[in-house]
Amino acid sequence: MTDLEQQKADLLGAIANADADALEAIRVSALGKSGTITALLKTLGGMSPEERQDKAPAIQGLRAAVADAIADRKAALDGAALEAKLASEKLDMTLPVAAAAPGSVHPVSQVMDELAEIFADLGFAVATGPEIEDDWHNFSALNIPETHPARAMHDTFYFPVVEGEEHRMLLRTHTSPVQIRTMTKAKPPIRIIAPGRVYRSDSDATHTPMFHQIEGLVIDKGIHLGHLRWTLETFLKAFFEREDIVLRLRPSYFPFTEPSVEVDVGYSIEKGRRVIGGSEGWMEVLGSGMVHPKVIAACGLDPAEYQGFAFGTGVDRLAMLKYGMDDLRAFFDGDLRWLRHYGFRALDVPTLSGGVGA
Ligand code: DAH
Repeated sequence: MTDLEQQKADLLGAIANADADALEAIRVSALGKSGTITALLKTLGGMSPEERQDKAPAIQGLRAAVADAIADRKAALDGAALEAKLASEKLDMTLPVAAAAPGSVHPVSQVMDELAEIFADLGFAVATGPEIEDDWHNFSALNIPETHPARAMHDTFYFPVVEGEEHRMLLRTHTSPVQIRTMTKAKPPIRIIAPGRVYRSDSDATHTPMFHQIEGLVIDKGIHLGHLRWTLETFLKAFFEREDIVLRLRPSYFPFTEPSVEVDVGYSIEKGRRVIGGSEGWMEVLGSGMVHPKVIAACGLDPAEYQGFAFGTGVDRLAMLKYGMDDLRAFFDGDLRWLRHYGFRALDVPTLSGGVGA
């Protein structure tokens, strides 16, 4: 056996029995900067080309064999250490969760509960509809035919066209289709609110691809704009918990209402901050109007017999106005610090008698 073969046999033997510390010591003494194999490799530089051709394969082969053996042994030791750790550590999934991390109610949930409480007192039931909608409920039945420019304004997330389907599927862009789902099922008088998630392909500081709206709908005989105004005023006074709420109704346009009004609420400046109440300035808070006769007819009701009003607004925006947050995106980040700061205690259930605020 040559010197090199002897050296290789000794090293491989030692590696096979080494523990983690011994393995590292062997690596340093053989392959480290001043290791034995490193020294052998350095001798190649001083050899004649013929001699180098003769000796190099054995020296490099030795280095490769030792490096491979060290890597294999390390992998085996690491694997065994992990096995031992897994065998010795146990996690009891039935243990109760540590009491140190209480959850909180998200402001969106809190505001939806407040809205349900306020409107329940006015005789409104809560209605829901699917978030995966078809374009008849989301657009056509709401007097937004295929060629209507409002369709383009909604930045709709469409599902791929399916051959043979009657209506294209989409993620609802507003809660207004719940008006249609309610009117096609229930007989008037109808008084509902419909809170829920809606989707639009839009994202910046004031827009997220998913957000929340609430819809209101009243259908009965002899309903007029005065009912709408009183309802919204009563709702906003209860919601912002102030008597000095002033509304301004501006003529507007929505395909599903005629006439359409945009509702502004007055604000005043207190200590440099905008506060709802008074009339120093105006902020748009709601879209609304008298339900378009075509929408009533599309649901199989006679517009000569029934009238109604509808309104819609952003729940996230209402929450921001009432509780003073300024970045919508933070609502959906799931940042625990934000949730602890803005969240509500689970037992803070809004009631009219206790006040619907915090
Ligand atoms: N659906 C409208 C939107 O998303 C909001 C809206 C406006 C709803 C007027 C209504 C309404 O019910 O009457 O922009």
